[in-house]
Amino acid sequence: MTKNQRHRPFVFVTFAMPVDGQVTTKHLAPVDFTSRKDKLHLFRQRALADAVLIGHTSLRRDNVRLGLPAELQEARTKRGQLRCPLRVIVSNKGRIDDRLKIFQSDVSPIIIFSTKRMPRKNREALKKKAILHLTGAQCVDLSRMLKELHDQYKVRTLACEGGPTLFRALLEQGLVDQLNLTIAPYLFGGAQAPTLTGLNKEFLPASAHGSLIKMRMIGEECFLIYRIKRQRSRRN
Ligand SMILES: NC(=O)c1ccc[n+]([C@@H]2O[C@H](COP(=O)([O-])OP(=O)(O)OC[C@H]3O[C@@H](n4cnc5c(N)ncnc54)[C@H](OP(=O)(O)O)[C@@H]3O)[C@@H](O)[C@H]2O)c1
Repeated sequence: MTKNQRHRPFVFVTFAMPVDGQVTTKHLAPVDFTSRKDKLHLFRQRALADAVLIGHTSLRRDNVRLGLPAELQEARTKRGQLRCPLRVIVSNKGRIDDRLKIFQSDVSPIIIFSTKRMPRKNREALKKKAILHLTGAQCVDLSRMLKELHDQYKVRTLACEGGPTLFRALLEQGLVDQLNLTIAPYLFGGAQAPTLTGLNKEFLPASAHGSLIKMRMIGEECFLIYRIKRQRSRRN
């Protein structure tokens, strides 16, 4: 059985990091350490997907719209797709500010997966701008979320754009199929700054094993694509 027959989308995650691995600063400030080529790479990956997924902290910190440049929108329209992928936000607490830039842009529908912990004030404001899926559980069940995206919204490919907390949660549940990683030629240091899998000091419950399927050098950056093959339980 292929992964798409498992009633969830193919999930690919795109990150950029310096050589020593931190994806942001210890204050989670927006960072800009990659080239224009890398930014275009991120857009191109996003343009391939039926939906793009982001964790609430990255959305809040980076205040991104998750749209696409005009030429990539046009190419999608010619292929019979929506001009931009569906935009999906995940948050447990649901305290999402409806004044964020994403809500000022109507390039594609916005879908929020959160919980009934979302305050009424946020719920009232957000339901005018997004489709809300609120579970009665304490946390969003990511596996169920992917199934709903697959079954209700026909999402077959999902581009996850982080951040590390969300990436780790997906990895822990074996829900990542591909990692696109740009390595930029910097070393920043900073043990308190999150790496790809965040600040959690614990090992993953099962190691993720990536198979390198593509490697390109453009300028001084290295663009890697790993297919996540399988995850093995740790013994230590
Ligand atoms: N270098 C890169 O390529 C790159 C890429 C992406 C992001 N970043 C950086 O990463 C930083 C943010 O990362 P982060 O790890 O702190 O946060 P994050 O993963 O973006 O978002 C974490 C938040 O998402 C929600 N969330 C995460 N897992 C969830 C789950 N299983 N179920 C439901 N909701 C879940 C929760 O929101 P609530 O708190 O609302 O419950 C959680 O607090 C930013 O500084 C950003 O710039 C860097």
